[in-house]
Amino acid sequence: MNKLKMDKLVIFCKTYGYIFQGSEIYGGLANTWDYGPLGIELKNNIKKIWWKTFIQELPNSYGIDCSILMNPDVWVASGHVDEFNDLMIDCKSCKARYRADNLIENFSKEDIEVDGLTKEEMSKYIIDNKVSCPKCGESDFTDIREFNLMFETKRGVTGDKNEIYLRPETAQGQFVNFSNVQRSLRAKIPFGIGQIGKAFRNEITPGNFIFRTIEFEQMEYQYFCKPGTDQEHYRFFKKKALDFFKNIGIKEVNLKYKDHQKLAHYAKEATDLEYLFPSGWGEVNGTHSRTDFDLKKHQEHSKKSMEYLDPVTNEKYLPYIIESTVGVDRAILVALCDAYDVEQLENDETREVLRLKPNIAPYKVAVLPLIKKIHKEKALEIYGKLSKHFMISYDETGKIGKRYRRQDVIGTPYAVTIDDNTLTADTVTVRNRDTMKQVVLKIEDLVTFITDKINE
Ligand code: GAP
Repeated sequence: MNKLKMDKLVIFCKTYGYIFQGSEIYGGLANTWDYGPLGIELKNNIKKIWWKTFIQELPNSYGIDCSILMNPDVWVASGHVDEFNDLMIDCKSCKARYRADNLIENFSKEDIEVDGLTKEEMSKYIIDNKVSCPKCGESDFTDIREFNLMFETKRGVTGDKNEIYLRPETAQGQFVNFSNVQRSLRAKIPFGIGQIGKAFRNEITPGNFIFRTIEFEQMEYQYFCKPGTDQEHYRFFKKKALDFFKNIGIKEVNLKYKDHQKLAHYAKEATDLEYLFPSGWGEVNGTHSRTDFDLKKHQEHSKKSMEYLDPVTNEKYLPYIIESTVGVDRAILVALCDAYDVEQLENDETREVLRLKPNIAPYKVAVLPLIKKIHKEKALEIYGKLSKHFMISYDETGKIGKRYRRQDVIGTPYAVTIDDNTLTADTVTVRNRDTMKQVVLKIEDLVTFITDKINE
């Protein structure tokens, strides 16, 4: 991702129907984004692979889909009402608002571990180092204040009692349904529950395109295990997250783990998987060893037992939880950044190409009649056959070379050209996006050929 800066990527995504600014014709709503026809295909493909990896292929894994709106007591028990805060600070001179940790990180030339600093330590750092406002250059800030990130909304007739929250994470759905899933599926520890869904956070400093938005999607998986076995499962899921990103085609050199130095009081181990974005390293996944903290809190607040009864030993205990969480939108951003390339061709031309792995590419195949008047009918017949299996792009306008380039730039891995031989011998030419090499195949072999490439 050395050739594309974030602002270029935003334009690229708009130009080719991947992602549009939210509510654009009304001037937009800051940091909301709409997925276009190609974006939604990419998103669905990534979600499908995550589901297959974590729910379908892992033994004892169960998927759920919970309400975005939950009983507000859930968020009291989870600690979000009291502790889900960002520390913010305002410039007294120009009124710009910052997250205190971001302000220090951006100012500091050294690699300072802001994560580990308390509110008081951050205040001291800002004063001692005369940290200046990136907007106006003044060094005159308010005290650091806590700002809760949950979006509030009102249910029914307005009033304090009816205040509820849009969920800031999907994970609480897994925790509160632990016993429901365990009993209804007669699940035995260890087992996992996962879901994919929207989450909302009133971020103070959203930005960097779809990296940090106020509405986003998460793919979260909670693995419930016997205390004492947690470390081996933590190691397994730490690696599983890396495997997931490699499986959607991300180059390993652009990924690294960042183990947490300062752990939450209930956490035993935690790590972020980071990707090297154009703006620098950023978290795309978290793997957290959370002990029995979540189930214990819900047991206390709901007064319902969250204990598991081991059917063999008759032992009763609160399971420990390993969490693996991925942001869908960040995974999409990673996929786009990693795939974008500008290739220098031998004839001194350049070629813009999105080298998405076939398993996540929005269109798997483009069907292109060489001469519209002569080959269109056959091309539409082939389109009809292939579209039963894959998302297909059809393009009959312009020179064939231009049409190939249009598919290269949107990431379609294969282009099938219908020519005279198709009419007489039932063969088509299949062009590979990355190598630009062509092979001739029988029409009847196309579905198997493409399926094999997608599953490779
Ligand atoms: N249940 C744990 C949890 O929510 P998190 O680190 O706060 O942990 C998990 O979030 C993942 O969700 C992150 O790794 C990131 O990929 C994604 N994410 C978090 N906040 C986001 C935001 N404002 N915009 C887009 N993605 C976000």
